[in-house]
Amino acid sequence: MATQLYRLLPLLFLPFILFRRGASPPLPRQHAVIGDDPAGLHPVVLLPGNTCSQLEARLTDAYQPPSPQCAAAKGSGRWFRLWKNSTAMQDPDVAPCLADQLRLVYDPAARDFRNVPGVETRVLGFGSTRGFLADSPANKDLCMGRLVEALEQAGYRDAETLFGAPFDFRQAPAAPGQPCRAFSQFSRRLRALVERASMKNEGKPVVIVSHSQGGYFALEFLNRSPLPWRRRYVKHYVMASTGPGGFLLSMQKLASNPSAALSFGSAFTALPSPKVFGPDAPLVVTRARNYTAQDMPEFMSAIGLPPLAVTLYETRALPVKLNFRAPVVPTTCINGVGVPMTMKELVYWDGNFSKAPEVVYGDGDGLILLASTLALDTVIGDDPRQEYYKSIKLAGTSHAGVISDGAALERVVSEILGVHE
Ligand SMILES: *[C@@H]1O[C@H](CO)[C@@H](O)[C@H](O)[C@H]1NC(C)=O
Ligand SMILES: *[C@@H]1O[C@H](CO)[C@@H](O)[C@H](O)[C@H]1NC(C)=O
Ligand SMILES: *[C@@H]1O[C@H](CO)[C@@H](O)[C@H](O)[C@H]1NC(C)=O
Repeated sequence: MATQLYRLLPLLFLPFILFRRGASPPLPRQHAVIGDDPAGLHPVVLLPGNTCSQLEARLTDAYQPPSPQCAAAKGSGRWFRLWKNSTAMQDPDVAPCLADQLRLVYDPAARDFRNVPGVETRVLGFGSTRGFLADSPANKDLCMGRLVEALEQAGYRDAETLFGAPFDFRQAPAAPGQPCRAFSQFSRRLRALVERASMKNEGKPVVIVSHSQGGYFALEFLNRSPLPWRRRYVKHYVMASTGPGGFLLSMQKLASNPSAALSFGSAFTALPSPKVFGPDAPLVVTRARNYTAQDMPEFMSAIGLPPLAVTLYETRALPVKLNFRAPVVPTTCINGVGVPMTMKELVYWDGNFSKAPEVVYGDGDGLILLASTLALDTVIGDDPRQEYYKSIKLAGTSHAGVISDGAALERVVSEILGVHE
């Protein structure tokens, strides 16, 4: 039964599957502590990657449990840990409850994704980095735990100069004009947090740092904030391990579990984008036909997604992908390259998408292809409105390694400290 959770949430579990690796790398060399003079620091706000934020839930009387066990906390008003709750995940009686309470539903009347009726959720610890997942060494690597440690060594202090902006990773920013309560609420809170961080630090503008999925939230947030606000409040944006192209693993996950497509607002966020992958780049190969990033609607139909899913892709997700653009604040992009095991093509030769595909690999960070990382230089770097852009490509560094491997981490921290010079 516990496997049901994994069937339901393959997209969410993705980074854990990929980056569970041996022992943690050593911490970077200690930086010159400039925190003796905390007044000298620009406040930093961190946005972590997928599944790194923690969610609490409570169940109202309206909750229709899939089985009687799932009704235990119903109506009690008690907030409990929904994500990440390892006890519940490992209990075969409770895991299906967790899966049911974690999924979202698309509400056609509201034209938006929301919780299952009767489930209320909230993000834990907004404003602090203490709410980021750090319950195991692997999560610490993946969820900015090492970066937080390194920044604290350099003099940063939680909730004084260092702030966290966790978000509901089941959701995604929707195209302008499409209702998206989750992203609107997150944007309001992040705007207030940035202003508060600045105010607490003599009006200094902040440095925003994102990793992976956090980049989609940060970039949309910046691009939808008035330019004078960005200029006043954002000293620098450091975007780690995000590219405009998405990645192939999200196509494979969708093919192996089409029913997840309508259970998460973020299911399409990382699908390969036509902004990067052209009509000559087959991403999925079958005997009968190939699918490029332009053919995503046909691919979705072929793997069995309902027409509603295709419509949501075209109206909610695709416009955001096509609109990936320069934030028009000083920006540094940091990405891993030179990891040869990065998915480049999925071969379902006999056209059976329920089977595991044969994979053709290329260069990248283990998740994001080099082509997507290089596209940052044109999409952001070549935008004439973008006055300062720097790209750092870290050889032999993985998607999570960018914010956790010793040398990479040192580089990220020195970029953050470098904005003071
Ligand atoms: C984990 O989930 C179970 C079942 O939903 C709940 O009873 C428990 O309180 C949760 N743990 C925490 C720390 O909230
Ligand atoms: C599909 O792509 C493969 C290799 O990427 C190519 O060899 C093949 O000719 C293409 N097939 C079709 C039907 O276009
Ligand atoms: C596709 O593959 C799955 C898993 O191997 C198998 O159970 C199923 O019968 C196959 N479908 C067809 C139409 O061959």
